Amino acid sequence: DLMREALGLKELETALKQQLNVARVVVVAGDSDRSPWVKKEMGRACVACMKEHLRPGDIVAVAGGTTMAAVAEMMTPDAKLHDVLFVPARGGLGEDVENQANTICAKMAEKASGRYRLLHVPDQLSGEAYASLIEEPAVKEVLELIQSCRMVVHGIGEAVTMAKRRKTPPAEMENIIARHAVAEAFGYYFNEHGDVVHKVKTVGIQLENLPHVEHVIAVAGGASKAKAIRAYIKRAPHSLLVTDEGAAKALVGE
Ligand code: BG6
Repeated sequence: DLMREALGLKELETALKQQLNVARVVVVAGDSDRSPWVKKEMGRACVACMKEHLRPGDIVAVAGGTTMAAVAEMMTPDAKLHDVLFVPARGGLGEDVENQANTICAKMAEKASGRYRLLHVPDQLSGEAYASLIEEPAVKEVLELIQSCRMVVHGIGEAVTMAKRRKTPPAEMENIIARHAVAEAFGYYFNEHGDVVHKVKTVGIQLENLPHVEHVIAVAGGASKAKAIRAYIKRAPHSLLVTDEGAAKALVGE
């Protein structure tokens, strides 16, 4: 903590909390745009926050992305994680395997010596096939577990970066650009006011469920994500934000 004071991180946290009007902020040193290890530091800070709030038997829903992968990597076993169940937050969003919530959920649970359940719902399905698949007992059961989670942990992305990474079809891409999306979180795209302008259709946690989840942790850093973080937090002010100095300075200085 002395170290954090010397680096001025506490001041940054206070300034950022006020500016974003968010419930709680943790800032780690560095800028993850420039130094890859900073993502792991955010991962470590996120794991500490998770352990602070989790109780044995809790259900945690985790999203995908490279930042969440760093959280999974930094996870360690803990008595507090006894009997904690990890589930993916949402179904397929078009990500490559290494960025998928299922992959990260399994890895995180393994590192925590916890349990996990996966959601086997393909990305592109016709309406009818989809409707019958989500009625399958195995899928339904996991969806119910997701709905009863006490914690959600997710990343925040820059909208166009995320849409490209997910190989979004041209028509949807046009919509995302035309409607000035700047942020993306678990399949929802937001404009700078925090309004939803596009959504990937899939099962699992929906945006309107978030206010009913006791602990929502958003993890995102790098100066390039400043705008995205600001926009998303407008929509989800009761979040706990784990970020880095690069994003925090860009946000406070703007
Ligand atoms: C996605 C999450 O998988 O990762 C999103 O579902 C988030 O919520 C995105 O926007 C961020 O990715 P990264 O790689 O920048 O951490």
